[in-house]
Amino acid sequence: MRNRRAAGWILVSLGVAVLVSALGWGVWAWKASLLPDTYDVMDYGTHEFGGGSVPQQASAGGHHVLASGGISVTDLRAPSGRPDRSFRLVAQEAEVRLPSGRTVEALTFGGSVPGTELRVEQGELVQVTLENRDIQPGVTIHWHGVDVPNAEDGVAGVTQDAVPPGRSHVYRFRANQVGSFWYHSHESSSMQVRRGLFGALVIEERSGSPTDERLRLDLTVVAHQFDGLETLNGHDGIRRREVQPGTAVRLRLVNTDNAQKRFVLSGTPFRVVAIDGTDLNEPGLLRRTALQLAAGGRYDVSFTMPALPVSLHADGAPATLALSPDGRGLATTVETETVFDPAAYGEPAATPFDGSSAFAREFTLEIGRKPGFLDGRPGMQWTINGGIYPDVPVFMVERGDLVKLTISNDTSTVHPMHLHGHHALVLSRDGYPIRGSAWWTDTLDIEPGSRYEVAFRADNPGLWMEHCHNLNHAADGLTMHVAYVGVTTPFRAGGDAHNHPE
Ligand code: C2O
Ligand code: CU
Repeated sequence: MRNRRAAGWILVSLGVAVLVSALGWGVWAWKASLLPDTYDVMDYGTHEFGGGSVPQQASAGGHHVLASGGISVTDLRAPSGRPDRSFRLVAQEAEVRLPSGRTVEALTFGGSVPGTELRVEQGELVQVTLENRDIQPGVTIHWHGVDVPNAEDGVAGVTQDAVPPGRSHVYRFRANQVGSFWYHSHESSSMQVRRGLFGALVIEERSGSPTDERLRLDLTVVAHQFDGLETLNGHDGIRRREVQPGTAVRLRLVNTDNAQKRFVLSGTPFRVVAIDGTDLNEPGLLRRTALQLAAGGRYDVSFTMPALPVSLHADGAPATLALSPDGRGLATTVETETVFDPAAYGEPAATPFDGSSAFAREFTLEIGRKPGFLDGRPGMQWTINGGIYPDVPVFMVERGDLVKLTISNDTSTVHPMHLHGHHALVLSRDGYPIRGSAWWTDTLDIEPGSRYEVAFRADNPGLWMEHCHNLNHAADGLTMHVAYVGVTTPFRAGGDAHNHPE
């Protein structure tokens, strides 16, 4: 009897001990996860060198790599000189009335959603003055998919301070790439982009050789949900447009939402001629094929206008763009049989490098999930290489490096991974090399359970975000950086400028 009681006490005290130490660990983990009010994003995470050279000055903790003798992001600017094109974008709150009558309390560039479309020609020096009228605590502009100099990248707390109400900021870049891009605020982006701070940016080929006399229609289609309501170019119903048969039509689809979006084009076969602002080589005709676009991604589709109506709609929503010879038609929705797959489309062509190239650095980026604390918040957290933000890697590169990235997703959700400042060539998916046209991307959907190898040339020095473009995921820690050795930033996350890029 006495023995049994003693054993009971021992068990109870053991249990208490385990509980206390678990609690102690919990408190420690909670405390350790708290981010300071203001910090240098480069001071966090593990600096990885991907098997490439490690600069001598890199200290053991990886902090302040080459802090002295480095170059500041503020020195990585666009060329000086007179701009060829100047724009002014005013960030302002606006009550936007959708055609259906619904109103949206929006945050806008210029009072409309989407914001003013910017169209420029290749080679032009573009200057955009951002004025913040009344958006608290501030705004920035990031040129999604345009590989601008680092100082022009618009990331609050890394490449600039958020622009507070009443202030302005000038962005400049040379429009070297031809294609479809978009711009959006990169301050509190998970909230600001959702509420409307975005617009399309198109860089057209230089004109001057009007060899082709055919009729043309070149139209941007920006798809965005406001409070769950799907819109195309700010229209939530059917938008009709008269188009003459024989017209060469190019539709530039932009997905500004946080989730994949499926488009259906009815009434004509079509080609996907570009992905993320890069032309595909010899794209074939597609029929009964749905287009599934990554959050933040772009597909350009083209077709010759037939004598009957053509309609484009985002799957499951009434918002439709209806083109027809008399401006009144609407195509019956086609039954799609497949979803467009960029991994096997078009014809191969020479690329500056491929899977067999010698890589200066190779990194892995594994997306996972585990319980833990994110800045003091308990829950299931996203992880990169097993760590919860800011315990994530920083991929260190040097100018000129050919870099290979293997990205895998061990979660049950798709993650559209977006690298700033560079375009990456997709090499393989799940071990199978990409067939067909070269597939360059800046925003790549990593499906659950999948693994992609991509490669890029490190030719744009700076500190660059690599994050999930489901911006809610980014805000929940799916964010890291690719950093060039020796580049430092005078800007800080948090602080008086309220720099919160996610
Ligand atoms: Cu379009 Cu870092 O984002
Ligand atoms: Cu994600």
